[in-house]
Amino acid sequence: MDLLFRNEPPTAAESAAVESVLGPPGSGWEGGTRRDSDLRYAEGGHNARGRRDLLLPALHAVNDRIGWISEGALDHICRRLTVPPAEAYAVATFYALFALHERPRRVLHLCTDIACAASGSGALRERLTERLGPPGSEEAGATWHESPCLGVCERAPAALALEAGEQPRYALAAPADTTALDALAEAGSPASEATGPDACPENRTTTFTAHAQAGVPSEPPVAEAVPDAGDPSHVLLRRIGRVDPLSLDSYRAEDGYAALRQAFRMGPAAVIREVTESGLLGRGGAAFPTGKKWQATAGQLDTPHYLVCNADESEPGTFKDRVLMEGDPFALVEAMTIAGYATGAQHGYLYIRGEYPRALSHLENALTLARARGFLGEDILGSGFSFDIEIRRGAGAYICGEETAIFGSIEGERGEPRSKPPFPVEKGLFGKPTAVNNVETLVNVLPIVLNGGAAYARVGTSSSAGTKLFCLSGSVRRPGLYELDFGATLGDLVTKAGGVHEGRRIQAVLLGGAAGSFVRGDELDIPLTFEDTREAGTTLGSGVVLVLDETCNLPATLARVAAFFRDESCGQCVPCRVGTVRQEEALQRINRGADPTNDVELLREVGRAMRDASICGLGQTAWNAIESAIDRLALFQAETTTTEADTIHTPTSTKERQ
Ligand SMILES: Cc1cc2nc3c(=O)[nH]c(=O)nc-3n(C[C@H](O)[C@H](O)[C@H](O)COP(=O)(O)O)c2cc1C
Ligand code: SF4
Ligand code: FES
Repeated sequence: MDLLFRNEPPTAAESAAVESVLGPPGSGWEGGTRRDSDLRYAEGGHNARGRRDLLLPALHAVNDRIGWISEGALDHICRRLTVPPAEAYAVATFYALFALHERPRRVLHLCTDIACAASGSGALRERLTERLGPPGSEEAGATWHESPCLGVCERAPAALALEAGEQPRYALAAPADTTALDALAEAGSPASEATGPDACPENRTTTFTAHAQAGVPSEPPVAEAVPDAGDPSHVLLRRIGRVDPLSLDSYRAEDGYAALRQAFRMGPAAVIREVTESGLLGRGGAAFPTGKKWQATAGQLDTPHYLVCNADESEPGTFKDRVLMEGDPFALVEAMTIAGYATGAQHGYLYIRGEYPRALSHLENALTLARARGFLGEDILGSGFSFDIEIRRGAGAYICGEETAIFGSIEGERGEPRSKPPFPVEKGLFGKPTAVNNVETLVNVLPIVLNGGAAYARVGTSSSAGTKLFCLSGSVRRPGLYELDFGATLGDLVTKAGGVHEGRRIQAVLLGGAAGSFVRGDELDIPLTFEDTREAGTTLGSGVVLVLDETCNLPATLARVAAFFRDESCGQCVPCRVGTVRQEEALQRINRGADPTNDVELLREVGRAMRDASICGLGQTAWNAIESAIDRLALFQAETTTTEADTIHTPTSTKERQ
């Protein structure tokens, strides 16, 4: 075991940040003041190591308070948790939002991913480079980095400022313009906590406060992300805009907690039966039957069982889970409670991506209020069932959305996927039976329990039951989140979103995000179901529908997709670690004007190796979009090759967000 401490003491503020998570140290062995008794026997040891899962929250606490994690702070955390410093260093450096070198308190993340690039993030990048220098430069108390998708693609281009302090703050500019960017880059400018519907005054546990700042328009109400909010056909979005997301009473007035009461009346086995009968398939991308997953978890003899809600939502172009969490957070809390009840879990983890401060604060508020009113905790509503939820915040790593990488991240290890089998239902979080479900999947459980699985299954098609959330972005007139019955066509959806601008034509549509694939503008008759998209050689993935008109630079979009995978590969297996680099290099060469013939062959070979031999879905899908662009859109045939002037910039590494 490598226990190389450097004996750098933490500052008082760093110690306080660590204590806010771990509490005061029990003895000198855990980094506290040395007492006489410490010389006679050692305390900590096994107990401290048993809290390794608090490593990520402790790193967050220091990063949130100070803005970066010093050697002294890292050493202190290691002593408190008896974690070898080399291992803690490996974890801290895994995440893009943490810095291990001193930097300004305010960090600006400019999204340069696919939807934002299609909406002009390039010009904003130039502006920031002019003003502050290249990414990573520090000027006037702020620094900036290029970011992968920030999950607000309906308001692209987006920029998010996070400011460390005793009360960390955030400000989001979306759509961002140069005025807003200048304001965001201005550290220490007059600022105040936002008031109004998004402030959570009664809940002091809220991690980030919204930051009202001159020049940056305040964040619009969540309902603005849903262009047809209030449509009576909505099931999953029906409360968005109708309820106050910070009020439990408001939620209860709209059927809130009726499903949980119904679940308690039915019993866990009947809940699983209804979910199975509904035909609900997971909405996180893999479309696995939820009833089957719950049955398999519930049936495990090993205990305890865990429930993990996957709210990592980092697939470029995806923002559906954010809208649900910001606009209807109690629905997710209620659905998780039902899932825990059905699968025999008393402890749920809600793993939310680190770049969602508003969703985080709405959920923190929801958990506090639900606990206070007996909807979480011991003996919920007198049912005899006890359940609680812990929020775990990601820190800028797309791979942590993979269902086994999440386990590593929560357990305080690097977020690296594990080989399957064993499957999570047998050996998941902490080696125990675990059901992992996406946010949208879970929210579907409420109507299933309330109205029955058979009623749910009547909507949609026989193999894709219910409704689906679609994240529309790019060149459409009304980008946003849409809910449609499965079976509507891609054309229906694009029409609902207002089509493309007058006089423009659709060049391509990216379905399913960076891990998805392109279809042509003349393929809008594809029905949006799991089976029809599979049949058409594409995918629904996480519900991304990025529409690109003919003004968008496709080769540049592909290069950005390749840069994303190269950056986000965890590096654990060779086909993906090397393949994502080779793939990007080949695309860059073609985009610089090289003859594509050899490089297209190379791309195919590398793509096949990644698909066949990678451990997890990241490597297995990293070539999908590029393959579809070559084969379906006939990109890189001589006449479509771009010139150097056309190519857009791709970031060297968003891991430099540190
Ligand atoms: C690289 C990668 C990233 C993923 N990211 C997410 C994510 O952010 N959210 C999510 O729900 N599922 C994500 N998934 C899918 C999960 O592994 C898993 O299938 C899903 O959370 C299961 O929930 P469901 O059955 O409700 O869909 C990802 C998969 C891979 C391979
Ligand atoms: S495929 Fe890529 S992301 Fe997945 S385990 Fe291998 S290296 Fe890591
Ligand atoms: S917010 Fe920029 S691509 Fe999603």
